[in-house]
Amino acid sequence: MKVAFYEKLWMWAAGALIAAFLVTLVAGTATSALQPPSHVETIDPTSVSTDPRFATPGVTTSGERTTVITVASMFSFTPSDIRVPANRPVTFRLTSSDVTHGFQIVGTNGNTMVVPGYVSQFTTTFRTPGEYLIVCNEYCGMGHHMMFGKLIVEDATP
Ligand code: CUA
Repeated sequence: MKVAFYEKLWMWAAGALIAAFLVTLVAGTATSALQPPSHVETIDPTSVSTDPRFATPGVTTSGERTTVITVASMFSFTPSDIRVPANRPVTFRLTSSDVTHGFQIVGTNGNTMVVPGYVSQFTTTFRTPGEYLIVCNEYCGMGHHMMFGKLIVEDATP
């Protein structure tokens, strides 16, 4: 079978692209701890404020474990200022009471969709103390661009 030169070129180029995508996928998993969501947990979006899992949003610490409960709704995060320790694993648990939002902690690997009806959860460790911008990165309505928060990572070493 004779394959034309340009056809061969395109086949190799497509193959190289697929290989490059695979490399970025594996590299992201290995070096930046980027990972798909780990579990499916549902919630009634109409009763988020009375659901015991989300009735009192905020940061709780028990021992080495820090948990951040956050509710996303048009057009804010509750709480909007989140204070967590550096160099300790922090588990974020989020849900939405209306539409799909995003939760991206700029400059870190903290980033998830917040979908009504579901609880999004991820755990990450912040190495560098400082202030980080949190943005909603899913278009959620007229006030989408106004939907942001702040993460304050504090040096926890006594
Ligand atoms: Cu919430 Cu965009």
